[in-house]
Amino acid sequence: MSEKNATLHMGEKAYTIPVLEGAAGDRSLDIRTLRKDTRFTAYDPGFVNTASCKSAITYLDGEAGILRYRGYAIEGLVEHCSFIQVAYLLVHGALPTHEERDRFGELLNRHSMIHEDMRNFFRNFPEHAHPMSVLSAMVVSMSAFYPELDDTGNEETDMTVTRLLSKMRTIAAFSYKKSIGEPFVYPSHRFSYCDNFLNMMFSSPVKNYQPNPVVSRALNKLLILHADHEQNCSTSAVRLVGSSFANLYAAITAGICALWGPRHGGANQEVIEMLTQIRDAGGDVNNTIERIKDKTSTFRLMGFGHRVYKTYDPRAKVAKRLCEEVLNALGIHDELLDIAMKLEERALSDDYFITRNLYPNVDFYTGIIFRAIGIPTNMFTVMFAIGRTPGWIANWLEMRADPTMRIGRPRQLYVGPELRKVPSFIKEE
Ligand code: ACO
Repeated sequence: MSEKNATLHMGEKAYTIPVLEGAAGDRSLDIRTLRKDTRFTAYDPGFVNTASCKSAITYLDGEAGILRYRGYAIEGLVEHCSFIQVAYLLVHGALPTHEERDRFGELLNRHSMIHEDMRNFFRNFPEHAHPMSVLSAMVVSMSAFYPELDDTGNEETDMTVTRLLSKMRTIAAFSYKKSIGEPFVYPSHRFSYCDNFLNMMFSSPVKNYQPNPVVSRALNKLLILHADHEQNCSTSAVRLVGSSFANLYAAITAGICALWGPRHGGANQEVIEMLTQIRDAGGDVNNTIERIKDKTSTFRLMGFGHRVYKTYDPRAKVAKRLCEEVLNALGIHDELLDIAMKLEERALSDDYFITRNLYPNVDFYTGIIFRAIGIPTNMFTVMFAIGRTPGWIANWLEMRADPTMRIGRPRQLYVGPELRKVPSFIKEE
């Protein structure tokens, strides 16, 4: 292999494969013409080894535990920025100036209401519908109410992006109100992005709600932690659906649905359910660890393990610290945190987890923070979706602006029967 090319030897023949280099020294074999040149495809179920695109949005080093949005370390962004600044950074590529931030905030405020007719949809969902099913249905239905998005790079795109970012939290809060049978609370110009969401969730005609700054700060930080994570399952779904030139709402809805699964964003709800079960069974974590290691069981330690991180997820580090800070500041003692810390300690010293590089991921501690700030368990994945929206949008925009973009269309290795004849007894007269 030379600096710029690799050579693939197949029998007598040698094929040159160009080597692409990323900004941080990552290298990739450019196999785009592999099949045309050799008739071979690359077999990679789960895309473990496949770089599906070039991207300038998020950098992740799974061996070193590094995560950066547009070059900024996640730890610094969580410490110094608001979610709105980070959303702007992801979507526009640079942190906003004060004027840009204020204008962005004003636009988000202006687009925060949803079309009055959309309220009818909420009415017809069953009481106990999972908020993720309501969120996904409502986001795709926005394309019926706001159909003017066809192309990218114009004012309509900016408008659609702002609408989506803004209305996500309104839809999320309305789906919660629906699930508890309370009237919807409209967004208000008096509040910031996060406070507005909290107000729509927790105020009612008979209960005035004053957002607590501790809660508001925690929510900002949590949303930043979730804002992007390069080509994960849901972002890849957004890109795949978007590559057919489906509109932004349709593509983001695909992302929401992908996120819902317990192997992805749905894990945050499952972590709390798992910790609650352990508590209710007396709090012994050893049984759980043994059950996970039992090869005949499919049970997994939720909130642990990651496809890319082979060390501690940097988001989990921040979340663990934040969890202790928020609980202290709110004067809460949560037994589930004690159990989570015991589970972590036990797992990190166990050979099963050590040999497989299994560490806490972002979902392990965030649920305890969501609980502490009053978010119900079935809303956890919705919170993740609100946070991930700027990342999905940034990836959709980047893809649509890429002149080399083609429709996403993986190949397969066919292993079914060879050509068969339809038997005569089955033929219709
Ligand atoms: N608990 C127990 N064992 C695990 C866990 C876990 N959480 N995660 C992986 N393993 C084991 C697997 O059983 C497998 O063992 P084996 O080699 O003996 O068969 C090995 O580790 C590799 O696991 P894979 O499933 O092949 O790893 P993959 O990279 O495909 O999966 C995933 C990553 C889905 C995150 C996995 O670790 C998991 O299921 N974790 C629990 C769910 C979770 O927390 N998801 C959230 C991820 S973060 C996010 O999406 C925001």
